Amino acid sequence: ALVSLRQLLDHAAEHSYGIPAFNVNNLEQVRAIMEAAAAADAPVILQASAGARKYAGEPFLRHLILAAIEEYPDIPVVLHQDHGASPAVCIQAIRSGFSSVMMDGSLLEDAKTPASYDYNATVTGRVVEMSHAVGVTVEGELGCLGSLETGMAGEEDGVGAEGCLSHDQMLTDPEEAARFVKATKVDALAIAIGTSHGAYKFTRPPTGKVLRIDRIKEIHARIPDTHLVMHGSSSVPQDWLKIIHEFGGDIGETYGVPVEEIQEGIKYGVRKVNIDTDLRLAATGAVRQSLAKNPKNFDPRKFLTASLDAMRDICRQRYEAFGSAGQA
Ligand code: G3H
Ligand code: 13P
Ligand code: NA
Ligand code: ZN
Repeated sequence: ALVSLRQLLDHAAEHSYGIPAFNVNNLEQVRAIMEAAAAADAPVILQASAGARKYAGEPFLRHLILAAIEEYPDIPVVLHQDHGASPAVCIQAIRSGFSSVMMDGSLLEDAKTPASYDYNATVTGRVVEMSHAVGVTVEGELGCLGSLETGMAGEEDGVGAEGCLSHDQMLTDPEEAARFVKATKVDALAIAIGTSHGAYKFTRPPTGKVLRIDRIKEIHARIPDTHLVMHGSSSVPQDWLKIIHEFGGDIGETYGVPVEEIQEGIKYGVRKVNIDTDLRLAATGAVRQSLAKNPKNFDPRKFLTASLDAMRDICRQRYEAFGSAGQA
């Protein structure tokens, strides 16, 4: 059944677990997530970006998710709009059936330029007012996502701020978070605590702590009823990176957020954990390997099944690691 994000995150908070929110663009991703969730008995958050709608088209995307709900009637599913760049984008998503929207007012409508606090509070508050009127949950974002090691916002062609250079700007301020939640009444808040989007988060194998867990604790203490969201939470699986390189890929040496640090974050109030890159890497590795090992194959179902299997394994691991297994 289609449920609101609030419903799932309230339950997650009550029982102290986190829920991975996977980005979806196509059939194989949706199926991989649903099969993993069914096997793990886990609740599901499917999220679609502006890029996903551009790729699949809004009707195809919507019907993929409706199909998932029809095939798995016992699994609660949230259909979430990821990184809405304006109130208009959020309203369109609600009209097309999304049960949750993210108004990302941390950036201007170009999804690049850092926005002022006042701009962010104004657009986010406007979306909350309209969304709550129809039972839709709202996620906001405060702070500039960025890797504290590289000082970079993340992928160049995706979501990410330009011009957030100081460490200070790259961490959400707890005081400001409390003010923001009070002003906007958002249900969930994405915070900047050292993660960045994409595959290039850290240049060295993470030793010790790469995230500011202390900051999560401080924010959670100020806004205990607001569910915290961690974007940029891919772990960049080194086994899939190795397979990509073994079969002709060239992604280079790079590292993500260790699963143990996400688990630590969940202990202190993180409830929604955004993952896109890990499924992209697994799918790419599996397709490269399948094609290389089966040079005579020209049936796409064969290499797409390999990608589905690879993505399903990652999803299953995250459901188990974040404690959402058994909670559907
Ligand atoms: O936050 C960004 C997600 O990874 C979505 O990426 O805009 O390329 O679909 P995308
Ligand atoms: P990753 O690039 O780390 O998978 O993060 C995805 C994300 O935050 C989507 O909003
Ligand atoms: Na989101
Ligand atoms: Zn994100």
